Amino acid sequence: MEHTEVMKPETLDDLIKILHAIFESDNVNVEEVQHVMESYESKPQEWKKYAKSDQYRYTRNLVDEGNGKFNLMILCWGEGHGSSIHDHTDSHCFMKLLQGQLKETLFEWPEHENNMVQKSQRILQENSVAYINDSMGLHRVENASHTDCAASLHLYSPPFENCQTFDQRTGHKNTVKMTFWSKYGERTPFAITSSQENN
Ligand SMILES: [Fe+2]
Repeated sequence: MEHTEVMKPETLDDLIKILHAIFESDNVNVEEVQHVMESYESKPQEWKKYAKSDQYRYTRNLVDEGNGKFNLMILCWGEGHGSSIHDHTDSHCFMKLLQGQLKETLFEWPEHENNMVQKSQRILQENSVAYINDSMGLHRVENASHTDCAASLHLYSPPFENCQTFDQRTGHKNTVKMTFWSKYGERTPFAITSSQENN
């Protein structure tokens, strides 16, 4: 398994192959995954086909299902688009900036019905990789730019379909089903998306 640590992915396809090899093992080495994702130098021509954006909110675009061990996806963030505050359903979450900048705000899990407590905030730069899991708290991700869109590559392991979102003022939570705007570069048909959401 250590052999993967010295491999530098030259392309996105390379990176996906290395990730498949790493995740054959049942023990995820967080530093190793973070390192290999960081060492891929983002080249837009390699991921543009997946990066389908929407005018109104950020999109989730499936790139690879990782032999059932992980989901790899590209999120496209228009100017001012942001996520709700959410958890990660007991999975590992890696987030690499492919283009632009994203603001990540960390929150503590709410204990009482109250304003949620903000722990920290940072700006993620191109090619860097952030990591979070539920033991570290909750987060919100935003493209704070008014002029530039952003794109990020996310790896979730094990894959999950539902997460919880939290209201910043009250701490109230909701379970939401997450859907894909596109899969493997093809726009997900609306009819399928809506029937999945009603299941
Ligand atoms: Fe997240």
